[in-house]
Amino acid sequence: MIESSDFRSTKVPLSHGAGRIPVLGFGTLIPDAAVTRTATKDALEAGFRHFDCAERYQNEREVGEALQAGLAAGGIAREDIFVTTKLWNTNHRPERVEPAFEASLDRLRIDYLDLYLIHTPFAFQPGEEQDPRDQDGKVIYDRDVTLLDTWRMMERLVDGGRCRAIGLSDITLEKLLPIYEAARIKPAVVQVESHPYLPETELLEFCKEKGIVLLAFAPLGHGMKPGLIEDPVITAIASRVGKTPAQVLLAWAVQRGTALLTTPKSADRARENFNISALPDDAFDEISRIQTRQRLNDVVNTGSPGFIPRAISA
Ligand SMILES: NC(=O)c1ccc[n+]([C@@H]2O[C@H](COP(=O)([O-])OP(=O)(O)OC[C@H]3O[C@@H](n4cnc5c(N)ncnc54)[C@H](OP(=O)(O)O)[C@@H]3O)[C@@H](O)[C@H]2O)c1
Repeated sequence: MIESSDFRSTKVPLSHGAGRIPVLGFGTLIPDAAVTRTATKDALEAGFRHFDCAERYQNEREVGEALQAGLAAGGIAREDIFVTTKLWNTNHRPERVEPAFEASLDRLRIDYLDLYLIHTPFAFQPGEEQDPRDQDGKVIYDRDVTLLDTWRMMERLVDGGRCRAIGLSDITLEKLLPIYEAARIKPAVVQVESHPYLPETELLEFCKEKGIVLLAFAPLGHGMKPGLIEDPVITAIASRVGKTPAQVLLAWAVQRGTALLTTPKSADRARENFNISALPDDAFDEISRIQTRQRLNDVVNTGSPGFIPRAISA
């Protein structure tokens, strides 16, 4: 799937439409508005051309402002960047899908989207409250809409021409299969947590067979410590090949055939995380043999996002 050894400009064709997704994506899950602006600008300047957003992150406006300013300053055309955003769980009802899509475009200051994802397969009670809870603090799910109902509206957005590709996020192979089978427009991308501790091999094999791009989030293990960045296999390979642990982890992700999302928050880290090239085969194989298994984000089980807090080691 990936032929070049320099991943900085590698793009993968999507299964519908004419779009190609840059394998190196910048993720905008950044709680602070000012940091969102500077990190997005730094990522664009470092060379990232793929930006992953979400209604849920509540910062589409800041991302839109930073992109608009960055494109103008750098003489970069809208067509030269790839923008994704995601439909939140409270907007799964068919009549809410198009308004949510339009609102995201408006906040992002763009007039078409390269990729729209259903953020999670879980529908929440519709409304303005993104995280509806009952009096016991339990999530209020919406049982009156199916994932396929929502997918049908996503397909209509593609028909409308301002949404170039559609896909799913935080989904298991088990939940993906019936949507894949029933879809008139097949998912082009599936975004899930994936890294050496959670390789999602079965899902990746299915995606490769069907021409779906697996877009890996948390490829650095979300920077959690202790964690992947400090894994002895990764740090030893980094010294051996003259790269940083982050560069090793990101290269491994691309080399096994996924696209990825990473969230550097400084200009130096943006340049570091963009400067990715292939690992020697023995290093790649050694990482693939890591046996530790760990899911870091529980969203796939509940629809409620959040990295699972880790015990701080002494
Ligand atoms: N679909 C979903 O439900 C979902 C869930 C989670 C994420 N995502 C998407 O995936 C994107 C990426 O996820 P992620 O934040 O977990 O990605 P990540 O790149 O694995 O982790 C980011 C963390 O790693 C640290 N980091 C970044 N570059 C580094 C480097 N060169 N060396 C050492 N540490 C480094 C950063 O720490 P500092 O803060 O110290 O810079 C940051 O906190 C998100 O922004 C979002 O777009 C989607």
